[in-house]
Amino acid sequence: MCGIIGILGTKPAAPRILEALRRLEYRGYDSAGIATLDSGEMFRVRAPGKLKNLEAAMESVKTPGNAGIGHTRWATHGAPNENNAHPHTAGRVAIVHNGIIENFRELREEAEAKGCEFKTQTDSETIAHLVEIELDAGKPPFEAVKTTIAKLRGAFGVAIIIKGEEDLMFGARKGSPLIIGVGNEETYLGSDAFAVAPFTDKVIYLKEGEWCALTRHSINVFNDDGEQVAYTIDTVLGVADVVDKGPYRHYMLKEIFEQPESTARTIGAYVNAVDQTAQLPNEQELDFTSFDRVYIIACGTAYYAGCVAKYWFEKYAKLPVETDIASEFRYREPALSKNALAIFVTQSGETADTLAALRYCQENGLTTAAVVNVPTSTIARESDAILPTLAGAEVGVASTKAFTAQLCSLASLAVIAGRARGVLTEKDETHLTEQLMQIPGRITEALKVENAAKELAVDLSKARDVLYLGRGTMFPIAMEGALKLKEISYIHAEGYAAGELKHGPIALIDENTPVVMIAPTDPLLEKTISNMQEVAARHGKVLLITDENGAKVGADTPAWTLIAPSCDPFIAPILYSVPIQLLAYYVAVEKGTDVDQPRNLAKSVTVE
Ligand code: AGP
Repeated sequence: MCGIIGILGTKPAAPRILEALRRLEYRGYDSAGIATLDSGEMFRVRAPGKLKNLEAAMESVKTPGNAGIGHTRWATHGAPNENNAHPHTAGRVAIVHNGIIENFRELREEAEAKGCEFKTQTDSETIAHLVEIELDAGKPPFEAVKTTIAKLRGAFGVAIIIKGEEDLMFGARKGSPLIIGVGNEETYLGSDAFAVAPFTDKVIYLKEGEWCALTRHSINVFNDDGEQVAYTIDTVLGVADVVDKGPYRHYMLKEIFEQPESTARTIGAYVNAVDQTAQLPNEQELDFTSFDRVYIIACGTAYYAGCVAKYWFEKYAKLPVETDIASEFRYREPALSKNALAIFVTQSGETADTLAALRYCQENGLTTAAVVNVPTSTIARESDAILPTLAGAEVGVASTKAFTAQLCSLASLAVIAGRARGVLTEKDETHLTEQLMQIPGRITEALKVENAAKELAVDLSKARDVLYLGRGTMFPIAMEGALKLKEISYIHAEGYAAGELKHGPIALIDENTPVVMIAPTDPLLEKTISNMQEVAARHGKVLLITDENGAKVGADTPAWTLIAPSCDPFIAPILYSVPIQLLAYYVAVEKGTDVDQPRNLAKSVTVE
């Protein structure tokens, strides 16, 4: 999604804004711009495409001054071109905006009726005109902004500066997160703490509906009734540590290789290594004996983590699970059980569809829990329980370490539920926690398939379509593998239950459609191997991802084989995520796509 940065600083703002925008690149964007204030004047520079284009434009268009705002835009209304790039201006006002102003057409008509001339097709420009209208009517900046914000409907984060007011900046959040950074004689606005990390680790998270008026020496926060409200200053740890890719070519590869540590941190939050028990972190309580079912609701990769968890909760806790894609959930008017636990799986904690589903469940009286990587995010703060994934900041748009951390959190939760409901004995718990404790080491082994994956990627990168097949918990992993390939290499791929092959997809099989079979040694291996033989018999080329034993059983069929470490079927979905991530990564590298910021994608989709 769009990225916002604002600086009331003590040194030139433009280069610092550009640095902050680089830290927001992971959110995905298609244009960018900066506006600054200096000597009573306003300066602006914008460019389509990547930040290097903006940087080039800044060579010829000067943006002096120590106060300014910047933006990376992910187009919702209006084409991704320079004219529609933020900041948008109207008279004395410049704004940058993230989200959607749902009532912008009526507001635009109101502004046009008052003589405003619009230069763009965006909803955002309307905000600038509305503030300018109030200033023209003689209102001081504070009142002009307050009146404008009260008119806006929809989900947005916005930063506003006004020509001639070089020690004043306004910010507002309604649906799209916005934070205030607190510096030394400086203040900042940002879409997230990561953006202001170069300047400060002291942040204030604006709450839903709040807005603020900043100077270099004052911070005032207001609720949507315009009443001043208290705020707390948090110190954000760890954000600054994601400073670069280290020895890796892309953040995605770095994050794939961080998975031994990220899974270890996450498991450590749930599993007591000494007595080999599992418990909720931070002394939280969820009475699993009171729940008659679990809803797991999420989007994209996070949804596939929920689909894996369905197998675990039903097997180990005998709890019925319904999994839902968040954007479908509330519109199907689900027949909800009031005695259910609704779990929301989300890396960012800001995904609009998932947040809307959370609020729907809360309106219906369900207990809610968030499996979330950002504990200060909106979904985290609005859920009854926070089930943290300690993956650390994930910069690559394609989720990798967050996904395996989500699986670790959910697997631990299934053990906790099973024990609480008397389905698992103490011995069972010890066995399962032992498997969880092995994950970091097994992932370290699994990462050794990197070179084999790199070689296979050369062939796979030539495919137009790829099928991923798996059974049991490998079925959601097949879907995740297909998503990984699609979203970073732009090759069409589909994940299917292997048993479904003969019910249609087998018609696709020929020598041009590779089939990735994900088949660790488990009770379903034999059946999956026979599916593989069905493919081979039709000249299909199979890439078998399995362990040593599976490679022996299926020896003569696959065109290619990736050998992963053998493991207990309980943790196989977590382990087998690694080869499919590496495969997708190296196919994308082979194709030369923008691996960390794939086209059209955003790291956090904060619009419905
Ligand atoms: C994952 O590779 C994708 N980038 C995307 O599907 C993502 O998982 C989805 O948008 C959900 O995001 P969230 O986990 O932040 O809610």
